[in-house]
Amino acid sequence: MKKTILVTGGTGYIGSHTVVELQQAGYETIIIDNLSNSNIEVLDGIEKITGIRPEFVRLDINDKEGLRDVLKSRTGIGGIIHFAASKAVGESVHKPLLYYRNNIVTLLNLLDLMPEAGIEAFVFSSSCTVYGQPDSLPVTEDAPVLPALSPYGNTKQIAEEIIRDCIHAGLPFKSIILRYFNPIGAHPSAETGELPNGIPQNLVPFVTQTAMGIRPELSVFGNDYNTVDGSCIRDYINVTDLAKAHVTAVNRMLENKSREKLEIFNLGTGRGVSVLELINAFETGTGVKVPYKIVSRREGDIEKVWANPERANKVLGWTAKETLEDTLASAWKWQKRLRERGIQ
Ligand code: UD1
Repeated sequence: MKKTILVTGGTGYIGSHTVVELQQAGYETIIIDNLSNSNIEVLDGIEKITGIRPEFVRLDINDKEGLRDVLKSRTGIGGIIHFAASKAVGESVHKPLLYYRNNIVTLLNLLDLMPEAGIEAFVFSSSCTVYGQPDSLPVTEDAPVLPALSPYGNTKQIAEEIIRDCIHAGLPFKSIILRYFNPIGAHPSAETGELPNGIPQNLVPFVTQTAMGIRPELSVFGNDYNTVDGSCIRDYINVTDLAKAHVTAVNRMLENKSREKLEIFNLGTGRGVSVLELINAFETGTGVKVPYKIVSRREGDIEKVWANPERANKVLGWTAKETLEDTLASAWKWQKRLRERGIQ
């Protein structure tokens, strides 16, 4: 019988896809989420895919005593995957304390309680944002971490340091830090996907909402960058591929496949795609036009970044498999499903 995995933020975008993959790999899951940026109906979507309704606890991990009670009342928790965090870069600039509380205090609470609960494995959701604009591309995990451009980015850097210091101090757990590039798309069944609150900040939900006619047009933030067509370049990674990497990371720690107590992996495809290329791929793949206009650059945007995923490929044994075209098709299928359900 496999161990139980506690997934914080498990009703969120990446969290929900990861719960699906964990269940399909035979793990039991417990989700902790305060539903601040997600919806309880996500559990229905997970259940439709896997046939298993994950256990759910509504809790803000800032509530340390509440968290302690949850951990005390459960046995057999082998690992934690910690997604719960605030992630809007722009908002973080205006509300830094909210970000430090939600992204750092929560981490401290979890790390503090893990030893007393006997939990030995911790997966942390980090981001390629820690690299800033790297000097050389594709970027490897050994590239320097550059000063963050936002409180959000800073919380990811600080969180990585906190985990490193805990491991160095000999706390009784292992950790894998996963640095995501740009997760996009939805589960192929369209039972789960990304559900942005209000106006989407991220590119792909804005593209699908514009294609659906919910937004009149997409703004492309800048066409004067030093790139193939002047628009920014990112490494867009399929969310189900990304979710599978979490299962591999958990297996690796629980099955003692590594002697390292802390490992860091880039999760990307290794392919850089510009904003205009992505719009073009969406239009070609779906046959639906996305009206767009070029506007000025967005403050804080990185010009170009894409992963060298070799360490994840070779050491972790995980590779991104889905194509950009299929991934965009999955995002579009999800958007259409939301329309059928009268949600957007
Ligand atoms: C950033 C961070 C990422 C973080 C994420 C959280 C970097 C490199 N990445 O992603 O770590 O997890 O925020 O939200 O710092 N774009 C448009 N029009 C739009 C929206 C976006 O042109 O309406 C462009 C952006 O300029 C960018 C690309 O699309 O070039 C992707 O943007 P987005 O989806 O917001 O993700 P990042 O900013 O790359």
